[in-house]
Amino acid sequence: MARRLGGRSARRRASPFLHRFLLSASSPEPDEKGVSVAVPLLDLKAQYASIRADIDRAVQSVIERQEFIMGREVAELEAAVAALSKARFGVACASGTDAILLPLKMLGLGPGDEVIAPSFTFFATAGTVHNAGGTPVFVDVDPATYCVDPEAVEAAISPRTRAIVVVHLFGQMAAMERILAIAAKHGVPVIEDGAQSVGARRQIDGSWRVAGELGWCGTLSFFPSKNLGAYGDGGMIVTQDEAAAVRLRKLRLHGGAKQYHHEEVGTNSRLDTLQAAVLLAKLPYLEGWSQSRRERAARYSAALAGVPGVQPPITDPANEHIFHQYTLRVERRDELMAHLKTHGIGCAVYYPVGLHLQPCFAHLGYRPGSLPHTERAMREVISLPVYPELTDRQQDEVVGAVRGFFG
Ligand SMILES: Cc1ncc(COP(=O)(O)O)c(C=O)c1O
Repeated sequence: MARRLGGRSARRRASPFLHRFLLSASSPEPDEKGVSVAVPLLDLKAQYASIRADIDRAVQSVIERQEFIMGREVAELEAAVAALSKARFGVACASGTDAILLPLKMLGLGPGDEVIAPSFTFFATAGTVHNAGGTPVFVDVDPATYCVDPEAVEAAISPRTRAIVVVHLFGQMAAMERILAIAAKHGVPVIEDGAQSVGARRQIDGSWRVAGELGWCGTLSFFPSKNLGAYGDGGMIVTQDEAAAVRLRKLRLHGGAKQYHHEEVGTNSRLDTLQAAVLLAKLPYLEGWSQSRRERAARYSAALAGVPGVQPPITDPANEHIFHQYTLRVERRDELMAHLKTHGIGCAVYYPVGLHLQPCFAHLGYRPGSLPHTERAMREVISLPVYPELTDRQQDEVVGAVRGFFG
């Protein structure tokens, strides 16, 4: 109990920017009667406990060699993640945000250049468009999968469209085959924001394709709470385009392949060797973890089927979901959230405000009602704990609390 109170006060003191991480750092504890179990939204301590020897060995090896910058693990990770994504090249960088920003920078966007992106996503998807010098054009999502709606993308194409950023949200892929056809028709490159969908697959024309395989560039985030999470920030771009990979490697190193020689102005966006070592140690477990997340999700969906007011997540039949999030659509969402919190159950809303309605994009002229599916999702979605270490007992607790709320 004392530890739990300590955790609460620490959370109260913490910066809101740390919220995402702190949610993921707590561990389950029995309540004072020992009857119910608290269920954190994510339990990275439990994950570490399950692979401690691998992680400690990998980290220690980097420390012994003192190879903190661009050590051999970085190239090893690039090769391994590129293979996993069925891409020819992987370029590691400092975050999932930079993984989107660097390819956008390559496009040399200028005033009035438009980049089509969904509004129902994490801020980085469109913040990067602005920071690369372009203007985001927000489009609506498919209300079943929350991934970008290809018809909305097509309707948003204009003579100023320079790129399309597709987000594979919550762990399943967008309808890439349709988006690629639209992009090809208009000669526009596609960036796949796969921050939440490492290794997610989609069956297209009878074969399995992977997130990041089909677009011009695919991007990944290794933020600690991601399915493949580092012990700090990290990201990667995967691509089939050799020229892009060569240029991206320069851009992340101040714009030069050779130290102190700069062909263009880049930035410092290296991935730390320590982070690459952690990620390499986790990689052999990733497929099993994704399978386990699918099993947890199926168990939730079976238990919540038919509960009035609750719509379990819908997987597009062409997709193999990796359930980065298990996201319900519910009635009285905010009340349910308060109810779950009083029962010690972690939950979160991804995302309460679409990017088209963010104050920083007010000058773009979107108004409430501009993107109805996004705005409905903002009011109705709630994500429940889903991770391989979640126990049956914890899951039953979550289901019981949701069912209890809806009577
Ligand atoms: C959809 C999406 N895009 C981009 C990012 C940015 O990744 P990072 O936090 O590693 O910069 C995230 C991570 O939260 C994300 O969920």
